[in-house]
Parts: sequence; structure tokens; C-alpha cells
Amino acid sequence: MKSEFILRGARVIDPSRGLDQCADIAVSNGRICDPAKLKKAKSYDMEGKIVAPGFIDLHVHLRQPGRNDKETIRTGTMAAAAGGFVAIVAMPNTSPPADTSSTIEYVKSHAEREGFVKVLVSACITKGQEGKEMSGIGGLKKAGAVALTDDGKCVHNHEIMRHVLEYAKSFGLPIFDHCEDESLASGGVMHEGYWSTVLGMRGIPAESEDIMVARDIILAEKVGARLHIQHLSSKNSARMIREAKARGVKMTCEATPHHLFLTDEKIKSFDTNYKVNPPLRSEEHRLALIEALKDGTIDAIASDHAPHTETEKLVEFDYAPFGVIGLETSVPLCLTELCHKGVLTFAELVRKFSSSPAEILGLSEMGTLREGAPANITVLDPEFEHVIDSSSFLSKSRNTPFDGWKVKGRAAATIVDGNFVFSAIPGIDAAIVHK
Ligand code: DOR
Ligand code: ZN
Repeated sequence: MKSEFILRGARVIDPSRGLDQCADIAVSNGRICDPAKLKKAKSYDMEGKIVAPGFIDLHVHLRQPGRNDKETIRTGTMAAAAGGFVAIVAMPNTSPPADTSSTIEYVKSHAEREGFVKVLVSACITKGQEGKEMSGIGGLKKAGAVALTDDGKCVHNHEIMRHVLEYAKSFGLPIFDHCEDESLASGGVMHEGYWSTVLGMRGIPAESEDIMVARDIILAEKVGARLHIQHLSSKNSARMIREAKARGVKMTCEATPHHLFLTDEKIKSFDTNYKVNPPLRSEEHRLALIEALKDGTIDAIASDHAPHTETEKLVEFDYAPFGVIGLETSVPLCLTELCHKGVLTFAELVRKFSSSPAEILGLSEMGTLREGAPANITVLDPEFEHVIDSSSFLSKSRNTPFDGWKVKGRAAATIVDGNFVFSAIPGIDAAIVHK
């Protein structure tokens, strides 16, 4: 028997129904129900909190199978729960890559046994992510893949990309697109611009992203497939996506907190926790992303949680792997830098973390608090002030550029199918309780 309870007195924000008001949310049998029908249920005082549809992170590297030293399905989903996410989309650049139904099934079965939150699995576009031969898309969909991506790599062959968009369309799957032209980006370690010149480092020009975004807009427009651009980082790409959407191209995009809040200037410290792909760009690009976030060009915020071990990152900048973690910092950073600084309203931010990602995935049962929907809920404490401390993370890795940042707001509880998987609220028990 699943528990019954009522969350009382919170500010309920449900963008799927245009709701932003003080209300009670009731849960019974793992689903949202009418509070008037629950006479004897426990009730939890949520005054001062925001109750929102469960947050979904569209871009997470769980590293299992293959690199369990960086992260596992267990530790990655613990970090997700503590960060306020009820569901995450696992990237397929594992070892082996998720290009067969057996690898998809492996991740799914481990997630069912060991996961603290829902793990939605994405599959490779091409076999081995080699960009040469399309993977078996029908079988991958049957095995449960929710999206196709070669994330970490770009599909360079235009003909293959066109075919993949056609197949993805007929199977109803979105393409999650890592846009990076290798001939322009190859050998680069940071954004090409003023700071790469000053520091004498090989640059990755914004055009390496723009060229592939342009190509994929052209192809998606022709084919009519669902195209989702991952980790948007450049001004021109944002402009092209804005224009394409206005023309009616079925496309969406995401940005990460690190691209929204950091620039390439940070690399003068030579700290490899600023090394990420696409690279942190200049203030001009960062401001263009903020603008695109505000006007809706950027639909969702995703972390691109990319764990790496300390030994791998503790090398010269040129040799360190690309990637930063983000599951436990995304929500506090966005509440602080976007809501408390007046860039987005709480309702706008909630949409970018919940109903928009659900729509991108085509999951009508998620990203909503309507009665009858599964009770996937994120509770926010928007005023909680703290300092980000990577030593307290539940993730196996520590490669964050935000250690020591002062933030205001965090996830106070995460509820998956009616069960508290994370709680930082005194008196509410959960699988993971914040100390
Ligand atoms: O910084 C990144 N790290 N960008 C990617 O595209 C891949 C990711 C990884 O897998 O580490
Ligand atoms: Zn990527």
C-alpha cells in the first residue's frame, strides 16, 4: 500500500495548467488526487515552499556501464534525487555505448533495482557513436529508448543525419543533437576568442556549433522530425533557432547552468573544472543565452552532468577530459541567478525544469500536477541560503566549477510516484534525508 498524504499551504506552480497559487496537493496510490477525498491522510505543512511538477534533467551521464569509478546508476540517481529531479535522461556514451537493446535493457533493469529516481534512457544515433552506420532504431525504441543521440560526438555525415531524422520521425523519437563540427573544433580546449589568445590555448570557435545547428535546422525542416539541440552555447545558434521556431520548425533546445552563468575568463585560473564541451564562451554569448532563455528560444535547462574522477581532472588543462557535474547544483544556481535576480519568474523557471522537458520527451503523464497524474513532485525551498560544498555531494565525482558559491534556494523534497525519495524537511522521512 502506498502512502496517502496532503502537502498543505504551499505556493503551487503548475505550468501545464497555468497555475500559480496557494493550494493543497493530495497524493494517494502514487497519484495526484482531490484533497477533499482524503479525509484521514497525513498532512505536511509546506508554507513558504513551492510545490512543482517533478523536475526532469534531459542530459545526464551516468557512466554505467563501463566507468563506475566516475558514477553509477545508484550514485547518479541519488545525486538527482538530492538535486530535486524525479527523472533524468541517461546519455548513451557509456562503455559499451547504448547502441543495442541489451545495453538499454541493462541500464533500465539496474535503474529499476538501484535507482532513486526514474531513469529514461537515450540510445545512440549511430553504431558505436562512430557516425558511420545508423543504429537499429526500431529495436532501440522497443527496448525503451526515449531519444536518440550521439552526445559527446556530432554526426558529421549529412546523408546519415538526414536518414536518422527520417527514421526518428517515423518511430516518434526526438533527436538530441550534439552540434560540433570536428574540423573546426578539433584540438581545441576552450572557446576561441580573447582569452584563448591571451592564455595561448587552442580554441574551439562558436562557428563549430553554428554550422551544425544550421545544417540540422535545414534537415529537420525538410524532414519534419523532432530536433532538440543540446547544450546550446553560442549567440548565432540561438538566433538561428529563434528564427527556425518562428517559421514553425519542430525544434527545441536546452542550455546548461554553466553556460548560463560562467564565461571563458574563468580559465585564466587553469582550473580544469572549467573545461567543458561545448566550451564556456565569452560574455557576449552568455548574454545571448540569457536573452534566449527569457524569450523562450531555450525551452529547458539541463545539467549535462558529466562526472570525471579527480585524478583525471588533476592534470594540465590540455589533457583533462571535458565535463562538469551539475545534478546537485542546477536548482540552487538557477533559483539564485535567474529567479532571485529577476531574469525569470519562479513559474518560468519551473516550466524549464518540468513541463518543457516532459513535452520534449512527449511524456504527457509527466511535468504536470493535474489530478490522476503520477505523483512526481519537486518541492522547492526558495529562500534557503547556503554555500555549495562539493564534499557533501552524493555524486561519486567532485568536478564542479561552483564549489563555494553562495546560493539561495534548493530542492527541499523530491517525490517519485508518491514516495519521498529525498527530504530536507524536518519530520518528513525519505530514502535520502538531508543531514
Ligand atoms: O563536456 C562534456 N562532457 N561534453 C560532452 O559532450 C560529453 C561529456 C562527457 O561525456 O564527459
Ligand atoms: Zn554533448
